[in-house]
This record gives sequence, C-alpha cells and structure tokens, in this order.
Amino acid sequence: MTFSYDQTVVLKDISVAFEKGEKVAIIGQNGAGKTTLSKLLNGLLRPDQGSITLFGDDICDKSTSVISKHVGYSFQNPDDQIFHDTVKKEIAFGPENLRFDTQHAKQAIDNAIRLSGLTELLDTPPYNLPFSQRKFVTLASVIAMEPEIIILDEPTAGQDKAGIQQLEKMIHTLSDTTIIVVTHDMEFVARNFDRILVMANGQILSDSGAKETFYNKPLMEKANIEQPYLMSVVEEFLFQQDITTVEAFRHRLKNGRIQQ
Ligand SMILES: Nc1ncnc2c1ncn2[C@@H]1O[C@H](COP(=O)(O)OP(=O)(O)OP(=O)(O)O)[C@@H](O)[C@H]1O
Ligand SMILES: [Mg+2]
Repeated sequence: MTFSYDQTVVLKDISVAFEKGEKVAIIGQNGAGKTTLSKLLNGLLRPDQGSITLFGDDICDKSTSVISKHVGYSFQNPDDQIFHDTVKKEIAFGPENLRFDTQHAKQAIDNAIRLSGLTELLDTPPYNLPFSQRKFVTLASVIAMEPEIIILDEPTAGQDKAGIQQLEKMIHTLSDTTIIVVTHDMEFVARNFDRILVMANGQILSDSGAKETFYNKPLMEKANIEQPYLMSVVEEFLFQQDITTVEAFRHRLKNGRIQQ
C-alpha cells in the first residue's frame, strides 16, 4: 500500500497484517509515517495504491463511520476528538451512536470509565482537565464502543508514572482486543509489546520482538532511535542481549546468572 499527501509520497509499499488480540507497537522518529499509517488503518486516510482489508473485506469502499465500529482510534492530540461538555457525555456518545441497548451501553460505558480511571471526573468538562487526563477521556470513549481493534496514537505522551501504569493495565485487561500503539516511549514498548514495527522514511524497517529490535544497533541507527538505557547497560555490563525489562534485569542479578 502506498500513500501520498498531495504529490509527496509518505508511505512506500507498506505491507503488514495484524492478528486478533495482538498488541503491537509502532515506533520511529518524527515524520516516519506512524500517524499516517495508523490513520490509513481506520479509514481516515485512503491509500493511493494497494488495499486495506478488515476481516477479509476491502475497507476502501466503506465509510469512516462503518470502519470506526470495528477500529477505534485515539488521536495523537485529544483536542481533535473531544466535543462534549462532560467526561460522561463524551464517553457515552459512542455506545449511544452505535445504538447499543440500554443495558449493553451502561456496561460498556462503566467498563471504559473503570479501565481509564475516570470514575471521579464524570461531571467535569474535559477541557478543564490536563492533557494527560484528556487523553484518557479519548481512550475511554474508544473503549466504550467495544471495537475489535484499537489504535492509540501516542497514549503515553504527557503521562506520569500512575498514568502509564493505568494505561498498561488497560492494555492487558483488553486481552481479546487487537491494540496498535504509536509511541516514542521505548521503555513502555519493551515492557508491554511482543511485536514492534520500526518505521523510517515511510517504510517498515523491522517487524519483530523487543530483543530483536532494541539490541539491533544498525536498525536503531537507521531508524534514528536511541537504544533504551536498560538495554545499553545490559549489553555493556552483562555482555548479554536478552533482557528487555527492569524486572527481568533484577531477576537476573538476584539469581547471579551473570557471565563475565
Ligand atoms: N496533513 C499533512 N499534509 C502534508 N504532509 C503531511 C501531513 N501530515 C503529515 N505529513 C507529512 O508526512 C510525513 C509523515 O508524517 P506522520 O505524521 O505520519 O509522522 P509520524 O511518524 O506520526 O511523526 P511524529 O512522531 O512526529 O508524530 C511527514 O513528513 C509529515 O511532514
Ligand atoms: Mg505522529
């Protein structure tokens, strides 16, 4: 699949498929094409060449609103998405629009509120909330629609430790949902994603696991991504290339399985 803005080709011969329930991270430097790819996956943008299929059907002829029932999307900037005057109304809009029956809607909305940690803020106007919480409002409004696939563009941006933990819990709780996350937070990627797409200059350079990605120095260099600090320490001091989380690092040190 290929995509251009005006005359400028931005995505070049991209070919990728996602399986049900997969948790996939897309990483790459600014301008690599991550947001563009994610908008093509939910029909906000349409390819110039090639096709995009959802459950075997080409989405090119389907409207954005039909696609959005199946592919939920949280924008990089939450202000592109929020348009109701309370958090509760914002979250309830999707299920109401999709005509969930009353009980189903209540259950979907309650679940989204719980997963996003917004229970105390339901009557607050979203615009009074800080960026990090506005982001959670958009995540909740996507989850409430119960799509099979959720795409989150930069969900960690501006989040503190508690926000990131909330997000991680959310991702793991939605175990049947395919979740595709665009992010610059490499520690978050290493902790939570088994599959990582590395993008540069409108192409996918690599599609593999955390170890294969973050210990691949030429790949990191080509994509202009800094190797996460933990991996550089493991490599330099343990002479190993198999640890990708602080927990695994701690475990390895405790068990004294360090080779010199
Ligand atoms: N609406 C647009 N019109 C024209 N060019 C655009 C538009 N949006 C993005 N681009 C260009 O397309 C390329 C890819 O942009 P994209 O936003 O997909 O990158 P990204 O990987 O999401 O970057 P970032 O990490 O900064 O969010 C960039 O060169 C960008 O300048
Ligand atoms: Mg982007």
